[in-house]
Amino acid sequence: MQKIFESIEYFEKESGQKKFAITHDGYVHLYEPVDYILALGGKRIRPALIIATAAYYGVPFSTSYNAAMACELFHNFSLMHDDIMDGAETRRGQKTVHQKFDVNAAILSGDAMMMMAYDHLCKYNDTTALGLVKVFTKMGLELCEGQRLDMDFENRSDVSIGEYIKMITNKTSVLLGACMQFGGILGGANAEEQFHLYEFGKNIGIAFQIQDDILDTFGSEEQTGKRVGGDILNNKKTYLYLKSLELSDPVLKKQLLDWTDFKPIGLAEEEEKISGVKSIFTTLVVEEYANQLKEAYKDLSISHLNQTTALNSEGKEELVKFADFLVSREK
Ligand code: IPE
Ligand code: IPE
Ligand code: MG
Ligand code: MG
Ligand code: MG
Repeated sequence: MQKIFESIEYFEKESGQKKFAITHDGYVHLYEPVDYILALGGKRIRPALIIATAAYYGVPFSTSYNAAMACELFHNFSLMHDDIMDGAETRRGQKTVHQKFDVNAAILSGDAMMMMAYDHLCKYNDTTALGLVKVFTKMGLELCEGQRLDMDFENRSDVSIGEYIKMITNKTSVLLGACMQFGGILGGANAEEQFHLYEFGKNIGIAFQIQDDILDTFGSEEQTGKRVGGDILNNKKTYLYLKSLELSDPVLKKQLLDWTDFKPIGLAEEEEKISGVKSIFTTLVVEEYANQLKEAYKDLSISHLNQTTALNSEGKEELVKFADFLVSREK
C-alpha cells in the first residue's frame, strides 16, 4: 500500500504546518479548537483515499491536497458535533472539543470548519471546483440526514436492519464514497468510472461503520481512543443490537429491552449496563454475524472497483488491501 502510506505522510506534512489560530490573528477562540482536533491525529483515511486515488490516475499529491484537506476538515467538523450529540468525553485518546473548550466552541468552530472545507474546494479552477462542490454538498446533506436518523433511532425500539444500513450509509459511508469520487474527478475519470469509484467507497464505508460499531463494544479504549460501551449507554441501534433482538428468545429479549430502559446513574451503574448488554451480544455471537455482513459489503465494494477501467492495476491492488485494513482495523 505504498501510495496510500505516502499519501498519508504527505497529508500529515502539509497539514501539520498549518496553524489556523496563528494565520487568523484575533480569532484564537474560533480557530484554536480547529487546530486542537486536527492535531489529535486520526487515521486520515479520507485524505488517503483522495490523494492515492488521484495519484493512480497520475495526479500529483500537491494537486489533490486541497480536496483532501476539505474532506478531513469536514470529517473533523462532523466529529466535533457528533461528540456533543453522543455526549462523548474522549476522542483520539484526549478530551473532546466540547469538554476541552465548551459546547459553544464545538458548535461554532465546527461550523467554521465546514466553511473552511468549501474554501479549500474553491481553490481549484471553476470547472473542477463546481464538480467537487456538487458532490460535496449532496454528501454533506446526506450526512446530516444519517446523523438525524442515528439520533431518532436512540428512542425507537422498532428499527429494522434495512433502516440501520440506510442510517450508516448516510452518516458515514457517503463521505468515503465522495472521497473516492473526488479522486476520480481530479484524475479526469468519466461519469461511469466515477460511479464505480463512489460505490466502492460507499460500500467499504458501510463495512467500516459496522467495524466502528463492533469496536465500540468489543474494542479497547487504548486502541480506539474512545470510551468502550458508549453506543450501549446511548441505546444506539447498532447491527449488534438489532441482530440480538432478532436472535434472542423471549427471556433474553426481555433482558435486553430492560437494559435498554435502564438509565444508569453514576459510573458503576453505567459499567453494569455495558457489561449486561455486552454479555447478551456475546451469548448470541452477534459479532460473527456482523463480521459476515462486513465481508459482504467489502465484496460488493471490490466488485465496483473491478468495474473501473481507467484505474491502473497498482490502484486496484492497493485499494483492495486498504479495504481489508478498513474492515479489520482495531482502531
Ligand atoms: C470516526 O471516523 C467516525 C466514523 C465515521 C466511524 P474515523 O474512525 O475515521 O476517525 P479518525 O479520523 O481516524 O479519528
Ligand atoms: C459518527 O458515527 C458519524 C459521524 C461523525 C458523522 P459514530 O458516532 O459512531 O462515530 P464515533 O464512534 O463517535 O467516532
Ligand atoms: Mg459518536
Ligand atoms: Mg454518533
Ligand atoms: Mg462509533
